[in-house]
Amino acid sequence: MLLLRLWSWLALASWAFAKASHVRNHDTHHYYALHLQPGIAPHDVASALGLDYEGKLGELPDHHTFSCPQTSQHKADGILEELRKRKRKRTHLPSLGPLDGVLWSQKQKLKPRLQKRGAIPPPPPRAGLPVGQKIDIPSVGQGLGDQPVEPQPAGVEAAMAMRKEVATKLSIQDPIFGEQWHLINTVQPGHDVNVSGVWMQGVTGHNVTAVMVDDGIDMYSDDIKDNYFAAGSYDFNDKTDEPKPRLSDDKHGTRCAGEIAAVRNGVCGVGVAYDAKIGGLRILSKVITDEDEAVAMNYAFQENQIYSCSWGPPDDGRSMDAPGILIRRAMVNAIQNGRQGKGNIYVFAAGNGAGAGDNCNFDGYTNSIYSITVGAIDRKGLHPYYSEKCSAQLVVTYSSGSGDAIHTTDVGTNQCYANHGGTSAAAPLAAGVFALAFDVRPELTWRDLQQILVHTAIPVNEEEDWDTTSIGKKYSHTYGYGKLDAYAIVEMARSMELLKPQAWYFSPWQHVKHAIPQGTDGLISSFEVTEQALKKANLERLEHVTVTMNVEHTRRGDISVELRSPANVVSHLSVVRKLDDADVGYEDWTFSSVAHWGEKGIGKWSIVVKDTVVNEHNGTFTDWKLSLWGESIDASKQELLPMPTDQDDDDHDVMSAVVSTTSISAGAEPTHHLANPTDHIDRPVNVKPTAGSPSTATSTTSPSSVAGASASSSAIAGQKEHFLPHYFPTFGVSKRTQIWIYGALAIILLFCAGLGTYFLVQRRKRLRNSRDAYEFDVLGEADAGSGLTGAAGGRRPRRRAGELYDAFAGESDEEQLLSESEDEDEKAYRDDEADSEGRGRTGSREGNVGEK
Ligand SMILES: *[C@@H]1O[C@H](CO)[C@@H](O)[C@H](O)[C@H]1NC(C)=O
Ligand SMILES: *[C@@H]1O[C@H](CO)[C@@H](O)[C@H](O)[C@H]1NC(C)=O
Ligand SMILES: *[C@@H]1O[C@H](CO)[C@@H](O)[C@H](O)[C@H]1NC(C)=O
Repeated sequence: MLLLRLWSWLALASWAFAKASHVRNHDTHHYYALHLQPGIAPHDVASALGLDYEGKLGELPDHHTFSCPQTSQHKADGILEELRKRKRKRTHLPSLGPLDGVLWSQKQKLKPRLQKRGAIPPPPPRAGLPVGQKIDIPSVGQGLGDQPVEPQPAGVEAAMAMRKEVATKLSIQDPIFGEQWHLINTVQPGHDVNVSGVWMQGVTGHNVTAVMVDDGIDMYSDDIKDNYFAAGSYDFNDKTDEPKPRLSDDKHGTRCAGEIAAVRNGVCGVGVAYDAKIGGLRILSKVITDEDEAVAMNYAFQENQIYSCSWGPPDDGRSMDAPGILIRRAMVNAIQNGRQGKGNIYVFAAGNGAGAGDNCNFDGYTNSIYSITVGAIDRKGLHPYYSEKCSAQLVVTYSSGSGDAIHTTDVGTNQCYANHGGTSAAAPLAAGVFALAFDVRPELTWRDLQQILVHTAIPVNEEEDWDTTSIGKKYSHTYGYGKLDAYAIVEMARSMELLKPQAWYFSPWQHVKHAIPQGTDGLISSFEVTEQALKKANLERLEHVTVTMNVEHTRRGDISVELRSPANVVSHLSVVRKLDDADVGYEDWTFSSVAHWGEKGIGKWSIVVKDTVVNEHNGTFTDWKLSLWGESIDASKQELLPMPTDQDDDDHDVMSAVVSTTSISAGAEPTHHLANPTDHIDRPVNVKPTAGSPSTATSTTSPSSVAGASASSSAIAGQKEHFLPHYFPTFGVSKRTQIWIYGALAIILLFCAGLGTYFLVQRRKRLRNSRDAYEFDVLGEADAGSGLTGAAGGRRPRRRAGELYDAFAGESDEEQLLSESEDEDEKAYRDDEADSEGRGRTGSREGNVGEK
């Protein structure tokens, strides 16, 4: 007996210790995230770096966390920086033992807090309204009883009878059920999620788990506790198992959770999926690192099927932020491996910044292809002033506005809340509806669910800006494909044929490098996608389309961008933002669109960049790249997308090196080919997906071209190093070894510099030959139509641009060369990723999680 007791004490103690040892303390320690080659022992890496091993990094394969006290001299920074440089150089250097197995590393930084999307900024002043008059903000506690007197819409009696029947049949005795108009609207009948028919079939979220990634969830609330899922919950802010609300304003997560899964039990109201399980991952109450967030986004990802996220970068009309590489990897990991390989669902609130001119394509979470972006409509089905528009928005559902808000659970044993709103309240309502779909059909993949939404969403306010897509669906940047209808979603979930795996096609970088004319004229650049290319990419039909682009501009808010598809569907990828004063333009930003869902994709895709704000601020459209994502032709051939890499960061480093050095040696021509950071000499230039295409599966490259290509970049990086010899670290090895290392390095660099010069000369020759292969037009005012029908019409080319920029269009030698070198690099990376075999080649930056 005593023994048993002792044993259990020991077990408890060791468990507590194991837990405690993974607790991060950012006040006292530095943390490092590393991606290691499989088979490398993290402990060996730890000792080589002088760090402590903390453990695996969440669910990310081969990713680990290391730490050191802030007081100690950490040589790790220098060594890791040197390793990054070596990687970039892609030359064979003497072995560094276990450190050779470090594929990627990142010191963790506390980042600005993500913002909840519950607080709604005041509406912008509107003409004709007396100052101070409230427009959409509901008052606290306003129930259905005290509505302003309005003519009673048709169907009110029927709706009230129906609500009574539902409550009786399903024994719903929750006191505020009658106020939960988003479930059954008896004031404006029809303006609810149409869930009653689904409930009557017994579909209430059984065996489905959703998790609120937020500021906590009150698991002791009587309205939550029976559905609380402890095993899928964690507090990343206070490092405990219970993500309890601890700050006075930690109420948002609980209110959102109640919308999904408040228990049917006579307390407050009910969730739309009131038999679903609900967990909490608390991340919004303190600053965290990318590592914390990446772990949270994969937390218990076999059980937590749906991650409901009502937050993001500030909706202030000037932020433009995307999740870091670790978070993007975590999201791809969840899509590929979570939920038994069907992919977790990330539901994101579109954002409340519409009043400030914000747009959800400037938020890398909402514009990720892996998230379902949900905007708001109000109790009358109208667009609330706060809900952001964008081409990445898939659907809308109900939230605050027109005199009412969402009635739900609050923090406290038996506390209800009548004033929940913003897109924050729309996203969890959608998450709850998705739980109903998984109740009837757990095997739906993340894309099947998006497909269901495209096909079942119901357009609202059709007199507004709706366009017809190539498959006859209506799409609006304000409402996506329309509002959710739970009944239609569950019906389609039951019967739909599951989609084949995802395929993709990535265009080469399109180099434009031309000033953007001010005024309503735009600068247009086009790229032709051939049937053959899509076949080769195994891509049958489009779902998501993303465009990654670089624009230099002295005022980012002045720029707007349209994407026109071969089917003449127009996506407004970006819009003018009055408040956005940033003088940086777009830097490798990826916009996305769901408006091309169902298109074939074959033909001319055009991107139009405009600077409609005539002022002293101007800019240059540098380059862009089109990525088409959709259903594969042959499921058996389709591979999984490789994990996103952070090549882009490296690229920028290499590029700045170019700026400072190469122009010197470039000679004959103006040096902007190489000297311009945006020319991407070191980037994947021919990054088509190649699943199943033998030509790119492995390198059939001629050695000389590879050497040439890699030489050009390494020579450049090398030169830079020569200016900074004092930064060279010691690797912690003996002086003799150091001499050997640096000696070898010097010889290699000299050799590479020679090759590099040779390559640069060759490159220029080739560029000269291929210039005319490509053109852009300046759009005239008359052609600058927006909307689906105003597209390419009578566009007339005004200028050939051949003499102004280099053309990588088509399969030029140049492209071949660079892509092969990239291929080498990619291959190395994929090998590292354990299964390179025939994996689709992607640009290193492709996988950028919709990049968003
Ligand atoms: C709403 O649900 C009912 C069943 O309760 C169904 O008959 C109706 O078609 C649904 N509405 C829509 C728009 O699908
Ligand atoms: C519940 O879900 C799990 C996996 O998510 C599955 O194995 C199990 O069969 C499901 N149970 C029911 C009753 O559907
Ligand atoms: C922007 O304007 C300045 C001054 O008006 C001019 O010198 C510059 O060439 C312009 N740049 C572009 C890209 O149009």
